[in-house]
Amino acid sequence: MRKPIIAGNWKMYKTIPEARELVTGLKEKLKETDQVEVVVCPPFTALAPVAELIKGSGIGLGAQNLFWEEEGAYTGEVSPVMLRDLGCEYVIIGHSERRQYFGETDEMVNKKVKAALGHKLRPIICVGETLAQREAGETETLVANQVEKALAGVAAADLPQVVIAYEPIWAIGTGRSSTGEDANQVIGLIRKTIARLYQQELADQVRIQYGGSVKPENIKEFMAQPEIDGALVGGASLKVDSFMAIVDF
Ligand code: 13P
Repeated sequence: MRKPIIAGNWKMYKTIPEARELVTGLKEKLKETDQVEVVVCPPFTALAPVAELIKGSGIGLGAQNLFWEEEGAYTGEVSPVMLRDLGCEYVIIGHSERRQYFGETDEMVNKKVKAALGHKLRPIICVGETLAQREAGETETLVANQVEKALAGVAAADLPQVVIAYEPIWAIGTGRSSTGEDANQVIGLIRKTIARLYQQELADQVRIQYGGSVKPENIKEFMAQPEIDGALVGGASLKVDSFMAIVDF
């Protein structure tokens, strides 16, 4: 049985006082439950204060990016060692915003995935198609290819640590989510791809989230799908009430 994981990607939102306020509110409202794993991914600047506040709360901590080297002359970058040092357990890798605005390629995503795993960080690997690619019928080939490239050289033993987030780009921040059925179909294909690359038994252990305009109103539809193991939530993770309504789906 895969334990669902609901993660909040705060993107470039929340100063330290705002981050403290949000996570304090989440802590107060989070019920003791083993049903769902809850993770927050604040911006780098708020990781340390959030790490302090969530100690013992059952909320997990994730970063939104990393660089693959451990240290060195890489101005502006943050290493996996530094993220571990801060208490991160997860790291989002290859978000479409990073691919689109910061030139991240599948090869860079792969290096980051391997660096994360090499430092006992669990990667949340984001994949997904643009609207044009969907309309051209390219979704399945593109997504399978992204998954295959992201996992190149990843050992089977590390695979259970990997989380994949299927985030169709046209659904991110647009209010226009995928349907549960469509997302389930693509996520099923991702699982088949992993089974082809490794083996079915391992593919069955990998958690695959849906992301893209997830809200309290549609979370049930996604969680009811057999292949969908949780959600990566952007906008709706920035407020206590909406994120808790999603976690308590
Ligand atoms: P929204 O939930 O704001 O559409 O963002 C989704 C996302 O990009 C999460 O990583």
